[in-house]
Amino acid sequence: MGNNVMKQRQDAGEQLKTSLGVLKMKTPISVSSGTFDLETLEFYDQNCLGAFVCKTITREPKKGNPPPRLYETEAGLINSIGLQNPGLDMFIKENLPRYREELSVPLIVSFSGSSTDEFCEMLEMLEAQEGIDGYEINISCPNVENEGIAFGTQADVVHNLVSRLKPLTKRELCIKLSPNVTDITEIAKAAEAGGATSLALINSLYGMAVDHQTGMSRIKMGVGGYTGMGIKPVALALTYKTAQVVDIPIVAMGGIYDWKDALEFIWAGASAIALGTAHFVNPLAAPEVMMGLGDYLLNNNKSMNDIKGACRFS
Ligand SMILES: Cc1cc2nc3c(=O)[nH]c(=O)nc-3n(C[C@H](O)[C@H](O)[C@H](O)COP(=O)(O)O)c2cc1C
Repeated sequence: MGNNVMKQRQDAGEQLKTSLGVLKMKTPISVSSGTFDLETLEFYDQNCLGAFVCKTITREPKKGNPPPRLYETEAGLINSIGLQNPGLDMFIKENLPRYREELSVPLIVSFSGSSTDEFCEMLEMLEAQEGIDGYEINISCPNVENEGIAFGTQADVVHNLVSRLKPLTKRELCIKLSPNVTDITEIAKAAEAGGATSLALINSLYGMAVDHQTGMSRIKMGVGGYTGMGIKPVALALTYKTAQVVDIPIVAMGGIYDWKDALEFIWAGASAIALGTAHFVNPLAAPEVMMGLGDYLLNNNKSMNDIKGACRFS
């Protein structure tokens, strides 16, 4: 009996395999940037993850926004962390060696720049480091060359940025898209045409919460990033729409809490999924999603490829 269960798990392991552009993943599960760090890995065997994405790094250290900067709404979370991070030099000196030592799954480094040149400089510095399997380019940030308008909101700017980054690396080059745009499919096509090997979506939506008694904003900065349960239908629709127009793989995220949510995104066209806000309520979300997905695939005799993008309408 015990052996049968073990055998089942190994079979599920085979069926759970997926890949991005150049990165092979043992499972379709990763963690979304900023919501998870090495400490959380103490809760379970990290091999349930197909990749690990670190918190977004900027060229210079950022101390982040003043508190309060997290607020739990009726259906999700509003955050205003402000990209708090140690900066690239410190990341390379201190964080990266720890990741190398403690991670047994592929490491994807998320980073963000304030100009195209700065993105390129950061990528060149990271390329000189070992133990990095890919990059997630966070383009939800103001572009100093373009009056502070976020990189990710203009297709031509995204195309130019990705075209400049592409020749600098052979590692996974995943572009993380913001939902706060008029048409995400235009941005996705621009990233693909520029040479992205995969896309991650979605980053947080704009969100706000106000104390109805006092009129005081629940977070110091007023408007923040809305994530978690309430954004799932939006993320699912944007995943579906994007999968219709690009050939490169999609890592989908936005309100995924359990294996059923994860499956919905795979049906809609995702090759992999990431867990984010779910970690705040259930640190064991990743192994649970792996078990649930594995069981579903085994019981239905399906592989990831059978399901990916096969969502039907009647
Ligand atoms: C507290 C917090 C911090 C985040 N920090 C980052 C970040 O540094 N870089 C980034 O690209 N996304 C960041 N995100 C967005 C998540 O990576 C993810 O795109 C978003 O939360 C949607 O997924 P979810 O609904 O499963 O949380 C953050 C989200 C939260 C809740």
